Amino acid sequence: MTKQLDLTDIQGNVIRAYGRFGYPVARYVFLNIRDSEIARDFVGAVTKRVTSSVEWGDGPGQIKQPNWTVNIAFAYQGLKELDLPRSSLIGFSHEFVAGMKDRRDILGDDGPSSPENWDPIWVGNRQTREQDVHIFISLNARLPALLEESYAWLKALVAEHKDGVVILGGNRGDDGVLLDYQDVNVVMEDGKPTSKEHFGYTDGISDPVFEGTPSYDLNVEGRGKQMEDGSWAPLATGEFLLGHIDEAHEYPPAPQPVLLSRNGTYMVYRKLHENVATFDSYLEEHGKKYPGGKELLAAKFVGRWRDNGAPLVKAPDAESKAKFDMALMGSDKDGKDKLLSDFTYDDDMSGAKCPFSSHIRRINPRASLEMVKGSKPGSMIFNEGAFDTPGALTNRRRLLRRGLPYGHVKDRTRDDGNHGIIIMMLNADINRQFEFVQQQWINYGNDFQAGSDKEILLGNHSADEKFPSKAVLQVDPDSDQAPYFLSKIPRLVETRGGEYFFIPSLTALRMIAMGVVDPT
Ligand code: HEM
Repeated sequence: MTKQLDLTDIQGNVIRAYGRFGYPVARYVFLNIRDSEIARDFVGAVTKRVTSSVEWGDGPGQIKQPNWTVNIAFAYQGLKELDLPRSSLIGFSHEFVAGMKDRRDILGDDGPSSPENWDPIWVGNRQTREQDVHIFISLNARLPALLEESYAWLKALVAEHKDGVVILGGNRGDDGVLLDYQDVNVVMEDGKPTSKEHFGYTDGISDPVFEGTPSYDLNVEGRGKQMEDGSWAPLATGEFLLGHIDEAHEYPPAPQPVLLSRNGTYMVYRKLHENVATFDSYLEEHGKKYPGGKELLAAKFVGRWRDNGAPLVKAPDAESKAKFDMALMGSDKDGKDKLLSDFTYDDDMSGAKCPFSSHIRRINPRASLEMVKGSKPGSMIFNEGAFDTPGALTNRRRLLRRGLPYGHVKDRTRDDGNHGIIIMMLNADINRQFEFVQQQWINYGNDFQAGSDKEILLGNHSADEKFPSKAVLQVDPDSDQAPYFLSKIPRLVETRGGEYFFIPSLTALRMIAMGVVDPT
């Protein structure tokens, strides 16, 4: 039995997606360091208020759920400014040192997604020392008024350390106005909070389960890794936290000393704008032609139905969807979780139910890239005989997802409003996990035998007439139906900025604040 992790040492945003724990609003603030010593003092003051992963409860001796949470992370330049010793700095990964903007080619951040079009805070980032994003602070709150309370606390703390740290402006808000922070909030429908994003999909369902987290063994089906006997097991902790054994039975590469990296992780922060008008009109246009109709087509883009997230492998058509919905309605929370998450692609190796270029199949292929046993005639055969472990190609590419939508859609006929998603992916190895998924599985289709077809929702589709993007929606190989071709796919999602950060443990934060990272 795996020992539970030291939750008092791990920052709360690593273990919890706050949105699901009753925090519908959040604010992300970015700071620049002007004086190392004062900045370390500031980090020490923030650390005292940092929310850990410890379990909450109302019983005696238990820690009550806070009204607002505080978490902190650093870009590489920030760690340098805080005077981390060279012997530690050289241990951080190459891509973290380089930063997101420098990795634009690998990430496919081109055309409308290229850094010149990012929010000013990111365009200036890494150009001059005064414009560099050094520190990231996230505040999550149970109510908007409590978010303001948390921000007032942060501003007062910054004012106390005004010669050491400044809040950077340049986050684009409504009508292009530039703000000192990035706000995010759940999408409201008829005055009620929803788990929807701006294209109308139910989001925030699947998140990896790994060893040592609270009740990891309860929610493992569909969220952990697939085993040979068909069961599920939690992923190795080292896929998501430094200083722990990973799926290769090794410690992930990490900076020294061990106390600096252990229980910390890397975070990929990305602001993604959603072109809602383009999405709606493309869906409308093809929805009229697509044999299953518009809503099934929308489900094919993602791999889940928009209204309740029903997975296509379990509910591939209107009839099975109606049955799925009945079962979902009659289930308690755990039953719902199982219905929505517990599935594989084993019975859909042809892609007839969930297309190979849909969002969730590309991002988490769930052992379908090595599946050979029992494949039906006509199925795609991936890597036959090359692997004896299901998930060998997937288990090392998993991502923890944090964040919420930003902005409100005021006019669905326009793309240029302030609306999208702030997504934060947490992983132990940015290159092996996030960057690989982004480059090889989102913007390229070869591993899925889909040639250069990109993932439908996120691909950096080209408007170039010579090479317009397309994707194939597969059909049952035994039917006489022809596959459906999505032609000239427009760019639905555009990058508006981001950076790579390091989320230290509480121990490491104290060491950084005291300037004793490597006392030797
Ligand atoms: C505007 C951008 C995006 C939208 C609208 C979006 C939407 C969705 C939706 C609707 C789901 C299904 C519900 C769920 O499983 O929670 C999902 C799942 C997921 N998304 Fe995204 N997403 C976006 C960007 C990204 C990016 C950039 C990544 C990472 C590179 C990502 C990673 C994931 C992962 C890991 C899952 C879970 C897949 C699974 O385990 O089955 N998403 N997303």
